[in-house]
This record gives sequence, structure tokens and C-alpha cells, in this order.
Amino acid sequence: MRLFIAVNFNNDTHSRLLAMRDELRSRSSRGRFSLPENLHLTLVFLGECDEAQTAAAKSVLGTIRFKPFDATIDCVGRFKRDGGDLWWAGLRESKPLTALHSELSDKLRSAGFALERRKFSPHITLGREVVTDEKPRNKEPFGETVRYIDLMKSERLCGKLTYTSIARNKQNE
Ligand code: 2AM
Repeated sequence: MRLFIAVNFNNDTHSRLLAMRDELRSRSSRGRFSLPENLHLTLVFLGECDEAQTAAAKSVLGTIRFKPFDATIDCVGRFKRDGGDLWWAGLRESKPLTALHSELSDKLRSAGFALERRKFSPHITLGREVVTDEKPRNKEPFGETVRYIDLMKSERLCGKLTYTSIARNKQNE
């Protein structure tokens, strides 16, 4: 199973992300745009996992405690790629978010996961292989309080990229 840990958003944030995706799409000549149900923020990418690793990831998720924190989306940007850029909605810098990413990464490494070392750039992918005249820019901020994170499974079902939560860690106030 291909796994990652993510923040899934409430309906209001989700609608606004969808509006950002639609705006980008309307200004692009080409691109593969994220399906509405796939708009999420990845905290850690685990990659291909067997059953024992899946159990280990669930167990790490269960040990995580965090105070609910505000996630604010305030810009649109891109990662340059040959053949079309990856465009994303970006998050305002957040210490609790960075701390959560670090705690997850440390605990997963201790549990035997070989995670990528690249810098954490919190983003919500809006589209891939996008060709557009649009420029990265700030947006009217919006967001929500993050109270839970999910261990997600990624798979292709009938050719469609599908993400499903297989475990949730929910925090109380
Ligand atoms: P992306 O949207 O920037 O591609 C499921 O693939 C999620 O894990 C996506 O949010 C994806 O981010 C993220 N991810 C991080 N590293 C990845 C990798 N090496 N391969 C595939 N997905 C990765």
C-alpha cells in the first residue's frame, strides 16, 4: 500500500480550495487538475508499505498529541517542472504545523521508515503539468483549526487516483 499522512479540510476550506483550483484551471491552457476529493495537505509521505509497516505507521499516529492549531492558506505558487509546473495553494508559516511534521518524521524514522530528507514545503496540490500565464501570488487568507490528521492510502481504482483515510488521530481542545 502507498501511504501518507495528511490534513483533510472541512467543507468550507475545501470549497475555497476548489475555487482556487477552478480559477487556475480557467487560466491554464493545459494541466491535470486535482480531483475535488483529493485536495489535502501532506504532512509526511511514507511510500509503499507492507502490512507490518502499515501497522507501525498506525501505531506511530496513535502516539501523536498536538494542540489544535490554525492552518491558514494565503498564497498560490508553483514548483517548476519540465513539461508543466505543479501548482499549489500555500500555507502561512506555522510553528505548530512544522512541529507536527518534525514529530511525525522523527517517530516514523525511529520506527524504521526511511523518509525523504527534503525540506517540508506545506502545500495543497491544485494541478500538475500545468501550463499557464498565471503568476504565483498572495491570496485573501482563509483556513481552519486543524484537529485531526489521517493516515491515507493512495491507489488507482478504475484508473482514478483515490485517497482513503485508513486511520485518524483526533485531538480534543
Ligand atoms: P504532491 O501533491 O506534491 O505530489 C500522495 O501522493 C501525496 O503525497 C501527495 O500530496 C504528494 O504530494 C505527496 N508526496 C510527497 N512526496 C511524494 C513522493 N515522493 N511521491 C509521491 N507523492 C509524494
